Amino acid sequence: MVDRKEGERASDGVRAAWETNAEWWDAYYKEGNDFHRTLIAPPTERLLAIEPGETVLDVACGNGAFSRRMAQLGARVVAFDFSEPFIRCARKRTVERADRIEYRVIDATDRERMLSLGEGRFDAAVCTMAIMDMEEIEPLAETLSLLLKSSSRFVLSVLHPCFNNPSCRMSAEQEDRDGDLRTVRTVKVERYMTPFSAKGIGIVGQPVPQTYFHRPLHALLEPFLRNGLVLDGLEETAFTDPSNARGPLSWDHYPEIPPVLVVRLRPALRR
Ligand SMILES: C[S@@+](CC[C@H](N)C(=O)[O-])C[C@H]1O[C@@H](n2cnc3c(N)ncnc32)[C@H](O)[C@@H]1O
Repeated sequence: MVDRKEGERASDGVRAAWETNAEWWDAYYKEGNDFHRTLIAPPTERLLAIEPGETVLDVACGNGAFSRRMAQLGARVVAFDFSEPFIRCARKRTVERADRIEYRVIDATDRERMLSLGEGRFDAAVCTMAIMDMEEIEPLAETLSLLLKSSSRFVLSVLHPCFNNPSCRMSAEQEDRDGDLRTVRTVKVERYMTPFSAKGIGIVGQPVPQTYFHRPLHALLEPFLRNGLVLDGLEETAFTDPSNARGPLSWDHYPEIPPVLVVRLRPALRR
C-alpha cells in the first residue's frame, strides 16, 4: 500500500535517488553492513534498551534491517520510509516475526501522515542513519513529541557532523619520525557551522548519489529540544580493528575519529 500522495512533500530528486538505489542497496546491505553492525546497531541497542512487548517506531527504516532486529528483541515495530521500493524490500525480507512489524510508506516531512500513526502510542522511536538524508527535520521533531508516550525515548544516529560531513576530506601522509616511517591519517573539515546540502554516496557502487543535508550539532538538536525533548545519552563510535580495512583511507584506520554519532533524547519531565 502506498500511503502518500505522489510528490507531496519531499523533493522529487531526494526521494527519487532512494527509489533508484533501494534494490541495489538492499541486495548489498541485507541485515546490515560493517558500519551498521559495528558502529550503529550496538550503541543504538544500548541506548534504546528495548523491553519485550514495547511498541517502537522506526523512522526511515530503509530495508527494515533494524526493525527486524528490534522485533527479535521482543518489540512490536511500526516502521516507515518514504521510498516505496525500500518498503517492498523490507516486507520481502521479513519472514520471521512478520506479525510484529507493520511497514508503511510515509514521508517524515509530512506531519499529518506521521500523526496518523497514533498520538501517544509509542514507547520508543529510533531513526538510524537517516536524519542527514532529510531535507526538513522540524516536522519529525514536532510530531515525535506527540507520537511518543511521556516515559519514552528517541534514539537517532547520523554521520558525525563534525568529522564525517560532505565537506570532509580524508588523507594519509607518510612521515619519517626519528627514523621511523609512519602513516599519519587525518580528516580535514572545510565546512561545519552553516547547514548545507551536497550529493554523496552511502555505499561505494550504489547506482546514483543521494543528497546529504549537513547540520551542525546545534541545528541538528535544536528542533527536538525546542519540542520538549532533552538529551540524556550520547555515544560516538569508531572502528578499532584496522585489519578489516578495505582500502588505505577506510574508516577502519581512524580509531581516534568517530564517523558516527548516536544520541538519545527523552520527553522532558513535566513539573
Ligand atoms: C541511509 S538509509 C538508512 C536506512 C535504515 N534506517 C538503516 O539504518 O538501514 C536512509 C533512509 O532514509 C530514507 N529517507 C530519507 N528521507 C526520508 C523522509 N523524508 N521520509 C522517510 N524516509 C526518508 C531513505 O529512503 C532511506 O531508506
